[in-house]
Amino acid sequence: MKILVTTPTGKVGSEVVRGLAAKHISRRLALRDPSKAPAGEEAVAFDYSKPESWEAALEGIDRIYLASVGDQGPEAEKAFIDLAVTKGVQRIIKLGAAGIEETDVPLRQVERHIEAKGIEWTFVHPTWFWQNFSTAHAGSIKGGVLAEPVGDRWTAFVDTRDIAAVAVEALVTDSWVGQILTITGPDKTTRAQFAAEVSRQLGRQVKFLDVTDEQFRSGVRPYLPASYVELLSALYSWVRAGATEFTTETVEKVTGRKPIGLSQFVADHLEVWR
Ligand SMILES: NC(=O)c1ccc[n+]([C@@H]2O[C@H](COP(=O)([O-])OP(=O)(O)OC[C@H]3O[C@@H](n4cnc5c(N)ncnc54)[C@H](OP(=O)(O)O)[C@@H]3O)[C@@H](O)[C@H]2O)c1
Repeated sequence: MKILVTTPTGKVGSEVVRGLAAKHISRRLALRDPSKAPAGEEAVAFDYSKPESWEAALEGIDRIYLASVGDQGPEAEKAFIDLAVTKGVQRIIKLGAAGIEETDVPLRQVERHIEAKGIEWTFVHPTWFWQNFSTAHAGSIKGGVLAEPVGDRWTAFVDTRDIAAVAVEALVTDSWVGQILTITGPDKTTRAQFAAEVSRQLGRQVKFLDVTDEQFRSGVRPYLPASYVELLSALYSWVRAGATEFTTETVEKVTGRKPIGLSQFVADHLEVWR
């Protein structure tokens, strides 16, 4: 069995690579710049926007860990899936997002395309990642502020190491075929509670700033594509409506261990915010 890993430099994909390596599962990394692959990993040049790169990536592949990138539409991924099935791929583990099941967002459109193909699939639906705080928000937190338009709503943030562990189980065992696995962490955390825990462990104050949607948009507009600003704004409106206020037992059920919570995530990433 050989597995193709897309987005192997990403927050979840990089952990999927580690998880497969730990289990000695044969794998190939599909990424835009193969020189970025960890030493010793088989890597191939792959870009969703360059269909000519897809065929070589799929040679001899049985299963795929598939993740979407940025705010691209679903068409490239659907065409890639069509080619993968033609080339003999039998199972796709797709990274989606919690709450998309009843929607028609691009992530869900890709899943419906996979469902219609008659192959094995598992859809991994995480809630918001803890790692957003150690990547997108890292600079701002380092400067002492976390600004998000969500008020005091809580989210059971999930660690990308746990999401990847679930995805790896779905890739290598038959137990989760045909299932949507909704994944959260263990803690009901507001952004203010997160900022307080970082402050406590850092030994200096990080303040949560509850901004309005318009303040958020104008803050990120200079740095992000307009369509991505719209997507983020829509995601935050879900949080404000309470849509992230739920927990699941999926990580423990699938991996047999408890998911990573607030204090461990913060402890593991303190250096990022120093
Ligand atoms: N962040 C969250 O809280 C959250 C929550 C639920 C679901 N999700 C979902 O998780 C997925 C990953 O999101 P993320 O923010 O975590 O991503 P990420 O870690 O930033 O990773 C993005 C990856 O996409 C690769 N990439 C970018 N453009 C590409 C292209 N044209 N062709 C091939 N690869 C390309 C990047 O590789 P390079 O090294 O080449 O740049 C990188 O490995 C998304 O589908 C998102 O909707 C995220």
